[in-house]
Formats: sequence, structure tokens, C-alpha cells
Amino acid sequence: MSNHLLIKDIFHETNICGVVSLRRNISAPNRTPTPASVAEQQLCGGGVMSGKLYAIGVGPGASDLITVRGARTLAQLDVLYTPAGKADAQSLAHRIVAEYLSPNTEIRTYHFLMKAEQARKEAVWDRVADAMQREVAQGKQVGFITLGDAMLFSTWVSLLARIGHQPWLEIIPGVTSFAAIAASSAMPLAMENQTLTVLSCTSPESELEQALRTHDCAVLMKVYGRFATIRSLLGRMGLLDHAIMMSDATLPTQQCWYHLDECDRQLELPYFSTILVNKNWNASR
Ligand SMILES: C[S@@+](CC[C@H](N)C(=O)[O-])C[C@H]1O[C@@H](n2cnc3c(N)ncnc32)[C@H](O)[C@@H]1O
Repeated sequence: MSNHLLIKDIFHETNICGVVSLRRNISAPNRTPTPASVAEQQLCGGGVMSGKLYAIGVGPGASDLITVRGARTLAQLDVLYTPAGKADAQSLAHRIVAEYLSPNTEIRTYHFLMKAEQARKEAVWDRVADAMQREVAQGKQVGFITLGDAMLFSTWVSLLARIGHQPWLEIIPGVTSFAAIAASSAMPLAMENQTLTVLSCTSPESELEQALRTHDCAVLMKVYGRFATIRSLLGRMGLLDHAIMMSDATLPTQQCWYHLDECDRQLELPYFSTILVNKNWNASR
């Protein structure tokens, strides 16, 4: 595709916004812009800055679960930053939004090195945040897409920490995966004065156990790779009848398990797998 650039190509573009002014934002993301940096932005945009950055949560997987605002915004973008899929395949986020994009939108593909050491990850976040700000300063409508909701367990938050809360930034919420899973499995998340905790299964088991003891309801994300541990924990706590698990929610490959005790301990789960627990609801049918 001619409008498809890899992120490394972006850094070969030249523009009159110096790296210095952009780095200033990165090292002090929450600082009020100085008159100097405002002036630099006006210079780059040819007037008061008209460029805008949109971080768009695209929902859990089904294309029609994106918000109306998200779809309308996608249709008018000059540039879209999208995560790279495996082996150069289109990412899930990109597939979700493909039908809403204008053919004129340039696609910038980035790869976030999820398993790399921290310094290498941070270098990529720095470069992507830097590149997006530079394009906004050129007056462009720039989009960044992220699965589910942008503010929950998303790389977008690492970029936000660099960019800061700016007048030219709009964050468009998305349907988070656990809302879609609750709806699809008919498993309530929480009611009345019950408490709900959202956890990553990458946390130490003792912390997960403590949280499960404290709260009535729980969302256990990132269960991929830790299913045997989590299943044993739920069994020890007598919660197996109050838990469901769903993979690839709202996608054609969606699977739901209502009897976790009957699942093979070595079950190979997709990365997009989540468990819901509700102590006040009998989940097994
Ligand atoms: C990096 S987090 C992204 C969360 C996302 N921002 C959200 O709002 O749902 C990835 C985790 O979200 C959950 N997840 C995301 N999409 C899912 C889906 N379609 N079905 C089941 N779980 C999903 C899984 O627990 C997965 O390991």
C-alpha cells in the first residue's frame, strides 16, 4: 500500500519543528507549555495550531462495537498510527477500523516490542510520541488506535505520560473487553454496594488472592500463560462456580467456558482471554 509507512521511515522526514522543542515535552510531560514552545508550535502549524491528536479506543474486536465518535473521527484523519501485527500481518486494531478509514489516510505502523527490555520499550514510546507530536504541530489530524478502552492496560498510557494532557489531544473511550464479555456471557460485573476489582494475572499470586478475598467481583485480565495457577487459586477459594472465562470476545473465534473446573489445566489460551468472577452470581449453567 502506497500510504503505508513503517515507523522507522517517519524519522527520515524533515520538518521545521526542532527535536529540541519536542523533547522538552517528553522530559516534562505535565508541564504547562512555555511561550517559547507555543511559538514553535504556531510556527510549525502556520498560525494557531490546528492539528489534533486523537487516541481512539476501538473496542474488543467486532467492528460495530466501535463508538460513533470513534468511527467519525477515523474517517477524517490525515494520519493513523497503528500497531504492527505478527509477521507484518495487519493488527487486530487495524482490522477493526479498516472499514471506517478514508483511502487518503496515511498509515504509520509501529511495533511496541512487548517482551523487550524496558529501555528498548521506552525508546520506542519516545519515538512514537515524538513523531505524533511533530505531525500535530504540522497541522495534521492524527489518530492512534488501541484495543478496548484507551485508558485501561494500554500502551497509549505510556505515550500519554510523554505527551501530557494537551488542548490538542482528545481521548475517545472504547468498549472495554470486560464489558463486552459480561454482556456476551450474561454475567453481571457488580451491583448495588458490591465492589469490583480489575486485576492483571501477571501480578503475584498472593496479591491476586488478597484482592479476590477483599472484593465481591473481579475481572482477571491477561490470564494467558497463567491459567493453571489462576484455576487452582479459584478452586482453593471456592470460586469456580462463580467464574466464567472468555477468549476472543466478539470475534468469530470467541469461546466461553462456564465450568473452569472442567477445563484442562494445560489449556492453551489465546492472548485475548479474560476471567470474570462474581461471588453473588452462579456462573455455571
Ligand atoms: C493489553 S490488555 C488490553 C485491554 C484493553 N485496553 C481493554 O480495554 O480491554 C490485553 C488484555 O485484555 C483482555 N482482552 C482484550 N480484548 C479481549 C477480547 N476480545 N476477549 C477477551 N479478552 C480480551 C485480555 O485479558 C488481554 O490479555
